Amino acid sequence: MCGIFGYCNYLVERSRGEIIDTLVDGLQRLEYRGYDSTGIAIDGDEADSTFIYKQIGKVSALKEEITKQNPNRDVTFVSHCGIAHTRWATHGQPEQVNCHPQRSDPEDQFVVVHNGIITNFRELKTLLINKGYKFESDTDTECIAKLYLHLYNTNLQNGHDLDFHELTKLVLLELEGSYGLLCKSCHYPNEVIATRKGSPLLIGVKSEKKLKVDFVDVEFPEENAGQPEIPLKSNNKSFGLGPKKAREFEAGSQNANLLPIAANEFNLRHSQSRAFLSEDGSPTPVEFFVSSDAASVVKHTKKVLFLEDDDLAHIYDGELHIHRSRREVGASMTRSIQTLEMELAQIMKGPYDHFMQKEIYEQPESTFNTMRGRIDYENNKVILGGLKAWLPVIRRARRLIMIACGTSYHSCLATRAIFEELSDIPVSVELASDFLDRKCPVFRDDVCVFVSQSGETADTMLALNYCLERGALTVGIVNSVGSSISRVTHCGVHINAGPEIGVASTKAYTSQYIALVMFALSLSDDRVSKIDRRIEIIQGLKLIPGQIKQVLKLEPRIKKLCATELKDQKSLLLLGRGYQFAAALEGALKIKEISYMHSEGVLAGELKHGVLALVDENLPIIAFGTRDSLFPKVVSSIEQVTARKGHPIIICNENDEVWAQKSKSIDLQTLEVPQTVDCLQGLINIIPLQLMSYWLAVNKGIDVDFPRNLAKSVTVE
Ligand code: AGP
Repeated sequence: MCGIFGYCNYLVERSRGEIIDTLVDGLQRLEYRGYDSTGIAIDGDEADSTFIYKQIGKVSALKEEITKQNPNRDVTFVSHCGIAHTRWATHGQPEQVNCHPQRSDPEDQFVVVHNGIITNFRELKTLLINKGYKFESDTDTECIAKLYLHLYNTNLQNGHDLDFHELTKLVLLELEGSYGLLCKSCHYPNEVIATRKGSPLLIGVKSEKKLKVDFVDVEFPEENAGQPEIPLKSNNKSFGLGPKKAREFEAGSQNANLLPIAANEFNLRHSQSRAFLSEDGSPTPVEFFVSSDAASVVKHTKKVLFLEDDDLAHIYDGELHIHRSRREVGASMTRSIQTLEMELAQIMKGPYDHFMQKEIYEQPESTFNTMRGRIDYENNKVILGGLKAWLPVIRRARRLIMIACGTSYHSCLATRAIFEELSDIPVSVELASDFLDRKCPVFRDDVCVFVSQSGETADTMLALNYCLERGALTVGIVNSVGSSISRVTHCGVHINAGPEIGVASTKAYTSQYIALVMFALSLSDDRVSKIDRRIEIIQGLKLIPGQIKQVLKLEPRIKKLCATELKDQKSLLLLGRGYQFAAALEGALKIKEISYMHSEGVLAGELKHGVLALVDENLPIIAFGTRDSLFPKVVSSIEQVTARKGHPIIICNENDEVWAQKSKSIDLQTLEVPQTVDCLQGLINIIPLQLMSYWLAVNKGIDVDFPRNLAKSVTVE
């Protein structure tokens, strides 16, 4: 999905070449999110000029484009602000003209990079076209840049020389939809605006001197400050004006409508940002890295501040100011500067060919990390710090609703039964988009659990807001620390899987699964009747990292299967029942998304209700035949397949006599995996499928980490 990066140096001399390299490197670290084009904007050679470089395709193509344009890399800047973007097309094809930065006019007076979607861009565009602005792209973003210019000019004509953040407030009043955006302008040299609504943004701070305080004050207009005037009006909408003002606007000229802005909006609390005050009052050299993703900041600094929705950050003169349009009751007056735990090495590929491969192989460690410090194996206790205080409330819930998308949804399905068994609370599992489409009834005594690797998935985030509005308690099960879902939920668990870069989610799945099982165990730790079951599961969890390590040894066999029997197949069926149904769905999703082979996860009990018609000697079938209480039923389903000349590959437990016997008379193969507790077996069984999807894709020459049409973090609906 789209990525934003910005770099501001203040009293830290940098050559243009260094600035370009920093911006391009920042984009490279966002590559894993998926994108189709890139661009940067930096200061030009003249005082008020801007250089914009854009290119479709990979960041490497942008690098070539910049080299071709041959800017003077040696010019130095004591202070400078540059912005950069990776775009994933939503409005307009991936063409150069649609790449960001988008500009206000041919003189590039305002340039904008934007993640998200401006839903009222058509109305804005019509309005601006009527005012004489010429659009050059198909993007929704271009109207933001043009709106900046229009509001800047109109206010200036009326004697109001607006500060950059004040101008931005006027722009934001007109925008509907979601955004994470950066704006730079030749009218505000060495300044940048960063603001967000529904799209993540964080700001890294790097300075030689220690910051005076580890927070930044939030600045609000004074209580009695009036609303700024808006010199813009659409056909039917008030665009931030009350209905009366809108009517006045229709009747009169623009200028007649302008209030004396200096008398109200300028009545702000301006202060020097406390964190950036130097001992002696002299200016302090500092660098700021603005990004939609910590992965591009961590190389430079670990000191970061996460912006909240509707925060408007203004960086200038080596200071970071955070403004909000009004003071909200109970809202925090500061934004804390936190320390990122993420190491750069964690997000690099190491000896592996792909991030996905690395992440599959990291699972013995990542699953261990999910449990580390949280399970006392000697006393069979689970302690989840982020949930502990909330457990009594959760236990009283009328029902648990688990809400997620894609792989995260599958981790919910995989653990639903153990939640119900251990907690005796009814559990429903919802795909976030469907949950919203149905406007599912949610009540104050519901507990809603949101599972997300990125913590930024738009559908999940919207469902979270929906549940918050209805007064439900919300719990986040999230990988990305500081992400929107982890911040907005009442409580939760970080799965601690480490950064997941490959688009196909692998280690996040196994860690989500474990985090959810630990959650279910915590819920039941007051139940005497569940003691034996809890002990069995806790002791089973202890062995999981080692067992995953063992399954990874199957790779050579799986690789061979992918290069022989499964090669050039058009379709693949995965059969599972009970705990293994989620594994079948997740395995099929992995295969689809990276190898582009059609695959279908089927509930084994449903075979005879339709799917059996597909079965013949040609259709490849993989069946989960590991031991649990449903084993006899699974065996019977597989017999239905072999009776129709199907020759399945069975994922079964080591030395299982039943499959050993059957393989003597029936055409089937086995992939043997260690046995664990029934509710944990899915953690082991999914590993061969992850490897299979990986090798099917590699054999086809597919760029595994960047499959077509997909993005790592899906931040649009
Ligand atoms: C997984 O392989 C997918 N790429 C996708 O289904 C993903 O799990 C889904 O988009 C949800 O993402 P999240 O966990 O970041 O919310």
